[in-house]
Amino acid sequence: MTADKQAFSQAHLIGIEPLSVEEIETILDLSDYYADRLDEKAFRPDILRGRIILTLFFEDSTRTRTSFEMAAKRLGADVVNIDIDQSSVKKGESLLDTVLTLHAMLRPDAIIIRHKEYGAPGFIAQHVDCPVINAGDSWREHPTQALLDALTIRRRKGRLEGLNIAICGDVAHSRVAHANMPLLSKMGAHVRVIAPPTLIPDKFPVDGIKTFDSLEEGLKDCDIVMALRLQKERMEEGLVQSEQSYFAAYGLTLEKLKHAKPDVLVMHPGPMNRGVEIADEVADDPDRSLILEQVRNGVPVRMAVLDLLLTKQ
Ligand code: CP
Repeated sequence: MTADKQAFSQAHLIGIEPLSVEEIETILDLSDYYADRLDEKAFRPDILRGRIILTLFFEDSTRTRTSFEMAAKRLGADVVNIDIDQSSVKKGESLLDTVLTLHAMLRPDAIIIRHKEYGAPGFIAQHVDCPVINAGDSWREHPTQALLDALTIRRRKGRLEGLNIAICGDVAHSRVAHANMPLLSKMGAHVRVIAPPTLIPDKFPVDGIKTFDSLEEGLKDCDIVMALRLQKERMEEGLVQSEQSYFAAYGLTLEKLKHAKPDVLVMHPGPMNRGVEIADEVADDPDRSLILEQVRNGVPVRMAVLDLLLTKQ
């Protein structure tokens, strides 16, 4: 499918909510184009030659940070990664002063930011003259993760519309879940969550999300199951009795997956807690697990996002 770049009119990528269905399709179509060429080492379109991309990760990351860097470099850009742990943030410099300082010094063409505070990327976007991309904030937004999840599903199942997709586990504290619910719903998937009552949020970002507290019940008729990490860094004490009891009730095993459709596929955004939310036999199952495909698709999705935001006429 050829991407209709004209359909994309966003200045920043802060969240899923502002994106239209046409804009999501444009990102996915362009991501497909890049994904098909990812293994060609010589494929370096160089459309961002001379551009500077600044990454600011105020929280840890392996997948998102590295794939943004790889995406930018494959498009020919220069990337400046700031090591927050060794920056003047440690001396008390505010988020805005840090960004304005780096903005004045580097004149970046895009800023990619991950921050624990909800709204930090949107706040920064109001103070700089370049596109800002949210690489995850609080438990609410992680737009490029949701886009790469959608791409992974679409490439394997051929569509999103009409699929039954279960998001399973610590939904309350998960920005992956909060970004995926609106994206998958907009694209016509039927989204349900499966979680203990203590890990279901008071409110969902969109209407129409079914909830189950029994994994076996919730898995019925599912095409896709997305397992989530227990987000202990954002969780109050006592919401989960023990990792063992959690795994017994909600851990994905091959036995429990028999309740879903026979061709069910399993996803996990990572990092995984093996033996807590997912068994090794599922995580490493070459027929069912899409986990490494999700990681791989992070690069083309982020190439597409950088392309669309930085090469607008
Ligand atoms: N899925 C995800 O955001 O992973 P990282 O925290 O490693 O970036």
